[in-house]
Amino acid sequence: MCGIVGYVGERDAVPVLLEGLRRLEYRGYDSAGIAVQTPDGLGWRKSVGRLTELEQALAANELHGRPGIGHTRWATHGEPSTTNSHPHLDGTGRIAVVHNGIIENYQALRDALGACGHTFQSDTDTEVLPHLIEAELAQGAPDSETALRQALQQARGAYALGVLFADQPDTVYAARLGSPLIVGIGDGEYFIASDVPAIVKHIREVIYLNDGEIAVLTPDGVTVKNLEGEVIEHKRHPVAIAPEAAERAGFETFMLKEIHEQPRVLRSLLESHLTDTDRVHIPDIGFSDDYFQLLRRIMIVSCGTAYHAAMYGKFLLEHLTGLAVETDLGSEFRYRSPRIERDTLFVAVSQSGETADTLASLRLAREMKCKVCSICNVVGSSLVRESDSILYTEAGPEIGVASTKAYTAQLLAFALFSIHVGRARGELSDARAAALVKALAAVPDAIHYVLERADRIRAIADKHHDGPSALYLGRRFNYPTALEGALKNKEISYQHAEGYAAGEMKHGPIALINEYMPVICVCTQTDDEVYDKMISNVREVEARHGRIIALATDGDRQVADLAEDIIYVPPISEEFSPLVNVVALQLLAYYAAQARGTDIDKPRNLAKSVTVE
Ligand code: F6R
Repeated sequence: MCGIVGYVGERDAVPVLLEGLRRLEYRGYDSAGIAVQTPDGLGWRKSVGRLTELEQALAANELHGRPGIGHTRWATHGEPSTTNSHPHLDGTGRIAVVHNGIIENYQALRDALGACGHTFQSDTDTEVLPHLIEAELAQGAPDSETALRQALQQARGAYALGVLFADQPDTVYAARLGSPLIVGIGDGEYFIASDVPAIVKHIREVIYLNDGEIAVLTPDGVTVKNLEGEVIEHKRHPVAIAPEAAERAGFETFMLKEIHEQPRVLRSLLESHLTDTDRVHIPDIGFSDDYFQLLRRIMIVSCGTAYHAAMYGKFLLEHLTGLAVETDLGSEFRYRSPRIERDTLFVAVSQSGETADTLASLRLAREMKCKVCSICNVVGSSLVRESDSILYTEAGPEIGVASTKAYTAQLLAFALFSIHVGRARGELSDARAAALVKALAAVPDAIHYVLERADRIRAIADKHHDGPSALYLGRRFNYPTALEGALKNKEISYQHAEGYAAGEMKHGPIALINEYMPVICVCTQTDDEVYDKMISNVREVEARHGRIIALATDGDRQVADLAEDIIYVPPISEEFSPLVNVVALQLLAYYAAQARGTDIDKPRNLAKSVTVE
């Protein structure tokens, strides 16, 4: 989704803004622009396409000044075009606004402003904002800040804003309602940004703005106020991310770096949740054992990849805790009439903590008086702030648009949570819990084993990448793995892919299978009947001459005899095999995308953090 950067300080704002925007590229965008104060008023440049286009526009027509605001736009209202890109200006060209979110009542505001003589250049909802501010000033608002507050009191919907006035030197305004925005504090410099990685190398502390707040940034500091103009004291948080975390560290893409980070991320998440005696310990869970004993039901809601983690969480929680667990997509949950009672624990799962549908579902659950526990990666995000309890995934910034390390960290968070709840409810004996912890501890090394064999996976991807479609099959704990493998493939390689529960194949997708169809079968070995059932499904594919690519446990001859190509993973317990298997599928998608020549870190049309519904 759109990205915002703003800068107040002694430096020329233009290169600072461009660098910040570059670090926000991963969020997804189709046009970009900046505005700065110059001795002659506001100066701005905009362009369609990548930031290099904006840089070319700046090279052709230089711009310098400070302070400034910048924006990458992911089109919602109006096609990607220079006119629709931000910043948007008022009729006098003295007020510039960058915006992330949607002004829902923009048409009514636009009509009213139009009736008073305002004319609009773009198709966007955003453009009403500078005109509203202009109108407030024309109608007697005593200063820019008051005009901004009065304008925002009329806007409905969601926004994160950066605002620059030609007549107010050295000042940037920021405002937030429902869309993420942070204020960064450096040495005599102040920033706004959609997220911390964009400005991490310049700042020491962060202020997480709340909804309905305005921040005024000047060289003297930052003041936060509400829409009534009352000053709000805000805690400043030290920056928890190392600047290198937002770098590629020698990898060709962020996605590949993040795939390779998984053993370290999972090892560290495990270590921070195990006691000296190897018992699961979740310090901030915030619910007593008594609470879990009386609990009747868990409802897990999320979107996209996080929804696949939710499905895994459901299977594991049912398996280890005896609780009734349901899942839903955020975009569905919020529009059905969910029957959840106050003795249901609502679990929201989100990497960013800003996904609009997940947040709206969480708010609905709160209205129904449910307790809310969130599994989230981003400290200070909206989800975190609105939850009763947080299980952080501690994966560090995920910059590649396609989620990888955040997903496996979500799976591990569910594993830890399930063991904790299973113990609290008396469903897991000490011995069983200890065996589970031991099996979990083997996961990082098992992932390492898969990563070391990346060349073999690349060879398979090179062979199969050019077909129009691929089918992914898995069962039970690895049914979500099949869905996630297919999602990764379509997201970054643009090859159509379907994930299916293998047992469901003969109810429809079997019609697709012919001698050209790659079928990726997750059939790692288990001690029970699921493996045998999976083998039967693989035989059904073989009988129809499908091209079987199997994910199998090292040494499994049965699968080797059936498959055209095979990716081996080390033996791992069935419950935790999805954490390892999915890494092989991430690599398969990665190399297919590479062979197809796509822009892997920034796949077309996708946004990292979906802050509009
Ligand atoms: C896929 C992907 C998306 C996100 C989804 C939810 O690779 O990244 O499907 O999982 O948009 O995002 P979060 O987890 O931030 O709520």
